[in-house]
Amino acid sequence: MVQFRLPMLPAADEVPWSVVVNDEEVSLRIESNAILLDVLRDQAGSLGTKRGCDMGTCGCCSVLIDGVPRLSCLTLAQEASGCSITTVEGLADGHHLHPIQRTFTECGGSQCGFCTPGFLVVISALLEDNPTPDDTEIKTAIEGNLCRCTGYQQIVDSVRAASDILASGEAVGDSTAAKSDPNPSYGAD
Ligand code: FES
Ligand code: FES
Repeated sequence: MVQFRLPMLPAADEVPWSVVVNDEEVSLRIESNAILLDVLRDQAGSLGTKRGCDMGTCGCCSVLIDGVPRLSCLTLAQEASGCSITTVEGLADGHHLHPIQRTFTECGGSQCGFCTPGFLVVISALLEDNPTPDDTEIKTAIEGNLCRCTGYQQIVDSVRAASDILASGEAVGDSTAAKSDPNPSYGAD
């Protein structure tokens, strides 16, 4: 990524930075004033965390820090030092999608998808704290996340459907398993 720096500002000191990202220990050297979103995307490889407005208004950059939703574009990376960070890449359990990932696909909670990682991590925290939120609680939880495509109703529907899955105790299937032969041999017979 091209870094722009005002010429009168000296380079910041580098400091060691250790966190857990999606259950994996990450140790890096970062600039002391680095923003968490930049470190996650440019140094830790979490490209699922999106940069929308870069000023705290869209929620695209949301991550969980020790389970609590935070805007990574407004968080100094050093504030998260020693913490456990969950990005959208950490929601699935192997090939098993988190219920909210599955219901976003089933209920049309995502269209262009740019806002989706932020919604998913925020909603996963909501469902962790409150597996059966009512509509008011759902809307309050996502009030900091903007979507330009869906009109929000499908997102609320997705949360309700994910809540139903959690309440039923239904095991979430292997939604990412190949549904057809990835290497078909056309005309072989
Ligand atoms: S990129 Fe952080 S709130 Fe928009
Ligand atoms: S799905 Fe396009 S901005 Fe939300």
